[in-house]
Amino acid sequence: MQEKIIILDFGSQTTQLIGRRVRELNTYCEIVPYNKFPHDDPSVIGVILSGSPFSVYDDKAFKVDLSKIRGRLPILGICYGAQFMAYTNGGTVEPAGTREYGRAHLAKIDESNPLFKDIKAGSQVWMSHGDTITSIPQNFHPIASTDSVAIAAYQADDEKLWGVQFHPEVYHTEDGTQLLKNFVVDICGSRQDWDAASFIDTTVAALREQLGDDKVVLGLSGGVDSSVAAVLLNRAIGKNLTCIFVDHGMLRKNEFKNVLRDYEGLGLNVIGVDASEEFFNELKGVTEPERKRKIIGKGFIDVFDREAHKVKDVKWLAQGTIYPDCIESLSITGTVIKSHHNVGGLPEKMNLKLCEPLRLLFKDEVRAVGRELGMPEHLIKRHPFPGPGLAVRILGDITPEKVAVLQEADDIFIQGLRDWGLYDQVWQAGVILLPVQSVGVMGDERTYERAVALRAVTSTDAMTADWARLPYDFLAKVSNDIINKVKGVNRVTYDISSKPPATIEWE
Ligand code: XMP
Repeated sequence: MQEKIIILDFGSQTTQLIGRRVRELNTYCEIVPYNKFPHDDPSVIGVILSGSPFSVYDDKAFKVDLSKIRGRLPILGICYGAQFMAYTNGGTVEPAGTREYGRAHLAKIDESNPLFKDIKAGSQVWMSHGDTITSIPQNFHPIASTDSVAIAAYQADDEKLWGVQFHPEVYHTEDGTQLLKNFVVDICGSRQDWDAASFIDTTVAALREQLGDDKVVLGLSGGVDSSVAAVLLNRAIGKNLTCIFVDHGMLRKNEFKNVLRDYEGLGLNVIGVDASEEFFNELKGVTEPERKRKIIGKGFIDVFDREAHKVKDVKWLAQGTIYPDCIESLSITGTVIKSHHNVGGLPEKMNLKLCEPLRLLFKDEVRAVGRELGMPEHLIKRHPFPGPGLAVRILGDITPEKVAVLQEADDIFIQGLRDWGLYDQVWQAGVILLPVQSVGVMGDERTYERAVALRAVTSTDAMTADWARLPYDFLAKVSNDIINKVKGVNRVTYDISSKPPATIEWE
């Protein structure tokens, strides 16, 4: 049985990070809304309570009854989680002074406590709550303090229940990994046997069981998730998997040809469909961004549906959905929301059963699985690319000519990033074709041509992003190459907006 840690989510921005850190300890974990603990699941070995945007004394604060868990499983409360357990057992939580935000250092530690094994006083921790525990219940005892917080961590007497007011999951907490390891491995007894290889073994076996001799179709996008899903399914069911790769005409330069070749090299049974003409026809004269996206989304579903039903007796649709797409996240009102889905609408339309073999993995784990499956590094490290492709990077109407101009400029930028060893340092990069023409001079002639913007960002999850500080010399070279080599472009700009408030894509 796959043992697991359950993370009860009280709505903190760092809940997913707790999950990733536990997985880094080769321990499987699941994030569930605070009130959805799986009481009947015998494979749970420990519980972590996340932080929350609320204060424990807020009317709207999320509350949970831990009586059926306490005494049965080890519990670690983080920030709000710690305050909640202290408060509901008779302790006091009060608004804290500003000094308790951000960096702090552990002053005193009970080094004999198993939670603090191999952690020394002086270690930096990260606080991010406006509240602090000013007194703990009678049957709890403090096990760490900082200069300004007397009860930075506590344990309930003779019980496997701990609370820490700082965030061990964030990288600013120096010994955060050690603390989580102490809890997950020493206290909960994790066997640490969750890794890419074990995931592949169990998933391949489960897929064979689930799919039997059924036929499966999968839409490839060229991206990491769908590619890894395809290779994993190929290992499980071989030729019963048919992959479909649709060219909507707005892929990168040579992308269709190159990616198709990669896929064939991986032994996949893949059908490449060049539907670009259909898409260009539908998009003619359309300038409104949302309409462009809708046309492409619908066009994709139509083409995919048509091709998929050429596969005789197809029963399943496989998708490369990953964990962050599926985690039921809590809104501030406590309603559970699901984040967006890449090819929304496809399963409903096709009347097929849905198979999502990566639905429990974080992005870095998908990459690790891809490596373990022997996929080439350039496929695994590929930047994310939007489903509607260059269509969201052409402002105004879309024509094949504009796409061709953008493909050339984009190719120079991306190839440049690779040549200068910068590709892996940015999360995502691309060029935007602006609906602006400006005066220039080339040789003795005045020109009146297009402007493009280069966009390159650093990010960990695309939820927030910062513009990449690319070297000036590199930008100068790319600008020069684009203006000299791409007919129709005489001006290059660099987008220095971060997200929020800007977004990564322009449309
Ligand atoms: P934004 O522009 O919202 O982008 O900051 C965040 C991430 O999502 C990608 N993106 C899309 N992906 N269909 C997709 O499959 C879309 O319509 C779409 N729009 C944005 C974007 O490239 C970035 O990685």
